Amino acid sequence: MKLLFLFLLVGVSWASYVKMKEVQPEQIHLSFGDATNEIVVTWSTFAQAKSKVLYGVHQTNKVAVGGSTVFVDSGKEKRKQWIHKVTLKDLAHDTKYVYKAGSDSGYSEQFSFKTPPAGEDYPLRIAIYGDMGVNNSMALPFLKRDVSLGLYDFILHVGDFAYDMYEENGRVGDHFMNMIQPLAANLPYMTCPGNHESAYNFSHYSHRFSMPGARSSLFYSFDAGAAHFVSISTEVYYFTQYGLKLISDQYQWLRDDLKRASSPENRRKRPWIIVFGHRPMYCSNSDDIDCSVEYTRVGLYGFYALEPLLKEYGVDIALWAHEHSYERTWPLYDGQMYNGTTHPYTDPGAPVHIVTGSAGCREGRDKFKHKPAPWSAFRSQDYGYTKFHTFNKTHIYVEQVSADLNGSVIDSFWLIKNKLRFTL
Ligand SMILES: [Fe+2]
Repeated sequence: MKLLFLFLLVGVSWASYVKMKEVQPEQIHLSFGDATNEIVVTWSTFAQAKSKVLYGVHQTNKVAVGGSTVFVDSGKEKRKQWIHKVTLKDLAHDTKYVYKAGSDSGYSEQFSFKTPPAGEDYPLRIAIYGDMGVNNSMALPFLKRDVSLGLYDFILHVGDFAYDMYEENGRVGDHFMNMIQPLAANLPYMTCPGNHESAYNFSHYSHRFSMPGARSSLFYSFDAGAAHFVSISTEVYYFTQYGLKLISDQYQWLRDDLKRASSPENRRKRPWIIVFGHRPMYCSNSDDIDCSVEYTRVGLYGFYALEPLLKEYGVDIALWAHEHSYERTWPLYDGQMYNGTTHPYTDPGAPVHIVTGSAGCREGRDKFKHKPAPWSAFRSQDYGYTKFHTFNKTHIYVEQVSADLNGSVIDSFWLIKNKLRFTL
């Protein structure tokens, strides 16, 4: 009898331990909502639970409530998780908040984030990279150090996560989201989809990330500081399951978005327009055909070419990844360099392209063609990431950090709007 009682006790304790673990929040990450003083907190549990965030300036004395959706991985096991989203609205600008995510069944540890100042006249510091996996994520220790020192306002992860989130019935995705939690729980982690997210119609990407707008995080834009950031899915050009309608929808949305952002009034407020997407329009790698099949640049069947939009609406910088290397171009359009003077990055008249896909993944590095095109200004196979500073309305400073060289800067340049200086 005593033995039976003991078995029952152990059984009940184990069941309640499992239940407690299943409702414990994990994979906590932040993103901007409809404005930079609106933060969306996203996390996962493996059983149903309420979606609450306790937050405040010095202590967690406020409560925000959101909701969850059940996400079922399409693999054999049909693993299920609840993805919770809570939006913290009307936050004070330029203010540090502390928060805990979860429910009364269990909250996370306490994290903090800082909202950007109001208006446009403040510098922004951003870490940018693509192609980071759970294995060989060489840039991660440096990024963790930088984030713990408060060096960035947000991160742009330019596609290709985990390698791949759907693998092992979604466990690789869970592992990756927990791996980046020290970054993403402390600052907005803004994203775009890459080819490694294509499984099950991009469902892991669309469910796990909460980007602004209502397009499953596939394409969207946001304003921060003196810049307008535009995230696009280059993958709509490469995966036919999207269909032509999505290519057309994104094209029209991008044209309208860039047109609005480049109106004289908006341009005065936010002179910089930055576009980011996964597959580059220009690269000089030799590993596959991707540097010669540039559908986003030239369009499909002569339609929906994106490069003319970048030129027409004065996009300043186009950020890409996909190639596991770093490459900076001279300002260029249609393969031709612009403003080849002694100061090519001052009022260039065409976008500068940066490929930064060297954060590290199981596929290793991508080699370069022996002879780069004349538009290629600098390239490196070192693992690393990009530090991107918009100092003000006229000056952007970009640095490439090498993980191979223990965090040394291997490339840098200033992009300057000299003419604007006399009109501000
Ligand atoms: Fe890729």
